[in-house]
Amino acid sequence: MDSKVFVFDTTLRDGEQAPGNQLNMVEKIEIAKALELLGVDIIEAGFPISSPGDFDSVVQISKAVSNPIICGLTRAVKKDIEVAADALKYAKRPRIHTGIGTSYYHIHHKLQSTPDDILQRGIDAVTYAKSFVEDVEFYCEDAGRSDNEYLARMVEAVIKAGATVVNIPDTTGYCLPHEFGAKIKYLIDNVPNIDKAILATHCHNDLGMATANTISGIINGARQVEVTMNGVGERAGNTALEEVVMAIKSHNLGLVTGINTPRIMETSKLVQRLMKSPVQANKAIVGKNAFSHSSGIHQDGVLKMRENYEIIDPKDVGVNESSIVLTARSGRAALRHRLELLGYTLNPEELDKTYQEFLHVADVKKEVNDDDLLVLVGKEKREAKRAIKLESLQVVCGKSMIPTATVSLIINGETKTESAMGDGPVDAAYTAIKKLFSQKIRLEEFLIQGFTGGSDDFGRVSVQIESENNYFYGFGVDTDIVTASTEAFVDAISKILE
Ligand code: KIV
Ligand code: ZN
Repeated sequence: MDSKVFVFDTTLRDGEQAPGNQLNMVEKIEIAKALELLGVDIIEAGFPISSPGDFDSVVQISKAVSNPIICGLTRAVKKDIEVAADALKYAKRPRIHTGIGTSYYHIHHKLQSTPDDILQRGIDAVTYAKSFVEDVEFYCEDAGRSDNEYLARMVEAVIKAGATVVNIPDTTGYCLPHEFGAKIKYLIDNVPNIDKAILATHCHNDLGMATANTISGIINGARQVEVTMNGVGERAGNTALEEVVMAIKSHNLGLVTGINTPRIMETSKLVQRLMKSPVQANKAIVGKNAFSHSSGIHQDGVLKMRENYEIIDPKDVGVNESSIVLTARSGRAALRHRLELLGYTLNPEELDKTYQEFLHVADVKKEVNDDDLLVLVGKEKREAKRAIKLESLQVVCGKSMIPTATVSLIINGETKTESAMGDGPVDAAYTAIKKLFSQKIRLEEFLIQGFTGGSDDFGRVSVQIESENNYFYGFGVDTDIVTASTEAFVDAISKILE
């Protein structure tokens, strides 16, 4: 019988930690529920001591989902563990994930300590966490660069103290696949009580090796994979759930996961949309081109027999082969049908508004695909809820001209207009908007992204602003990037008033 590999999803902790990926509570719960439907075994819901928001995420996700184990991260610090235990009090199956750095760098230069002291701190953290919950996972941070002999001593000691899972993270994404596999094998062969716990992989993608290292880890005996949807995460990201799960499913490794793979695409798109983080077109499994064949030879081969050029049946990951591309000639009924397939039922008024926007986009782009439609309905829903609306925007800019903008906003039902000059059209629009508010507003971050890369593409803008020491995120999307930028700024300012 195939051996089970447990899937530990950290999209909402390690993934959400990355700049620009921040989610509000409603969005986190939506993702947690999608992960439950996807069949993950463990959801790492946050790092409770790090902020009141993270504490609350662990509480709310514990209440919202029933099947997966809910896990909260801590350092090997008593207060962290107490706070995590408190945040996990509603979880049906709580897990505390505690740990400490085990590499030379971490022991000497980060923690300024000694190997023996760190070993004792690891044991104490597990013992203390066990006084709150039965299920305790221990991470050996920077295990990828840690000395194997010392790592084995640590793993043995924390299992003796009661750890149910021991995580071997390649925190810096340094290892090569054969090295990482050998590390796991060394622990399996040299830790006498290894049969009392599960070994976990947690690989980062700094050298593009995260999936390869994870697979090498499970081939050598690890039985839990720590992953994120789409590989989101700090720096180059974490191991992508969909890649590992489909590699296990496509190869005869004697291993199996509990993932309901036809839900992969939908879950991936949800995370892309809520984290405003689209994957590249050629991303394995979930990229737009992952199952599209453009060369004539490939098309012909696939038509003769799918397996000629496809190792995965697209239906196995929830890709609908017969996806209809809408154009400017498509009617309301076609738009409604397509949106319903995507899970959106709009009332007649919403449909009407979305249809007008759709025609505008279809005029600019030749084809309107599912991603474009998701942007349109997201935009429609978000704007309907906002306290401030962008009524009009006029910009004058170009070579040898001083960029000037005139902006009209509807603020709580009243139209207000201001004009300003700036370094560029976006700066001019932002300066005009700031004049309409008494509080100081500072732009902290500005990110503009295209989706498909064409000059007719949607511009997606994410901003972070600061006002009176509070931070607010805003998002805007439009085929006109100055409008998208202005919408994002207005979206963020609206949240100050909410
Ligand atoms: O990458 C890492 O080492 C981590 C640990 C906190 C588990 O994310
Ligand atoms: Zn990590």
